[in-house]
Amino acid sequence: MIVLGLETSCDETSAAVIKNGKLESNLIYSQTEHSDFGGVVPEIASRAHLEKIAPLTQKALTEASVSAEAVDLIAVSDSPGLAGALLVGISYALGMHMAHGTALSGINHLEGHIAALFISNPDIPLPFLALVVSGGHTAIYRVDDFGCYTLLGQTVDDAAGEAFDKVGKMLGFNYPAGRSIEQKAAEAQNHDLVSFPIAKLSDSKLNFSFSGLKTAVKYFLKSKTSQYITENKADICYAFQRAVIKSLVNNLAEASKVTNIKTFGVVGGVACNSTLRKTLTSRFGEQLFCPPPSLCTDNAAMIAMAGLKRAQMNCCRFPKMNPSRGI
Ligand code: KG4
Ligand code: ZN
Repeated sequence: MIVLGLETSCDETSAAVIKNGKLESNLIYSQTEHSDFGGVVPEIASRAHLEKIAPLTQKALTEASVSAEAVDLIAVSDSPGLAGALLVGISYALGMHMAHGTALSGINHLEGHIAALFISNPDIPLPFLALVVSGGHTAIYRVDDFGCYTLLGQTVDDAAGEAFDKVGKMLGFNYPAGRSIEQKAAEAQNHDLVSFPIAKLSDSKLNFSFSGLKTAVKYFLKSKTSQYITENKADICYAFQRAVIKSLVNNLAEASKVTNIKTFGVVGGVACNSTLRKTLTSRFGEQLFCPPPSLCTDNAAMIAMAGLKRAQMNCCRFPKMNPSRGI
């Protein structure tokens, strides 16, 4: 079976081909158009997707030595995400469907992130706890099987990646700032310069909150001179990153305690953070599974895998754009 995956939910345009279960191509265009704005500008994102989707898809098919007519299924992200951005991928998939009669499957982007684990670790033991940690989402799911998820906890305000991006903006980094903060934090000399608070929510120990942390960084920076901030930027990045990681690790440990599940999968853009990976590995050991960075940030390979799995289960659905549909 040949599956073409398409991903345009936010600021990555991506096309990928899975042929007989094997990933043959996964091309990703990360939009740099937003770097000066401190976040994704929806209209700019849609226009950039529109420019890239056709050549990128053609290239992904060529790399996989597959013709458009030979594709059996097009899996396309249809929710959640930016409405205009999602519409570009969905419309392109519909166009191919009209031209070649190809079957379609709308894919939930969050299920896509979890499906990345089935590419990197096809034999991941079930059930496992999935930490989905990206620019738009921070949540822990119990995964009993592909397609069988229970939401255990999620952020009540900002996503972890969003906190990285917003704090990065305060510190003068371009969007997206997660990688820059990680790199700067690695230069830290004084690990005790400042300690930022981690939110403890009374309603659920498994929920996250990052807006208080963001505000704490904001007021800390406000109380310092720009010379102080420049001289201590690495230590500030270190303290911020440590707080985010502590929150993620604590909640995952709590979820493990509550469910008695000791297998973990970590996905989404923030899962690229090597300090997070190291901390999780030392805490949870051998039973931690994390896809390579190219399958953590938004990509179409994960969408194609989700499409393949849905086709095998006979439960594809026609794409329907929905900016806020949960998993
Ligand atoms: O999964 P993704 O590509 O898009 C969403 O679905 O949101 O995640 C993008 C997010 C951005 O917020 C970016 O700053 C963050 O992932 N990110 C990182 C790192 N690399 C990307 N955050 C922390 N450390 C990193 N190395
Ligand atoms: Zn994503």
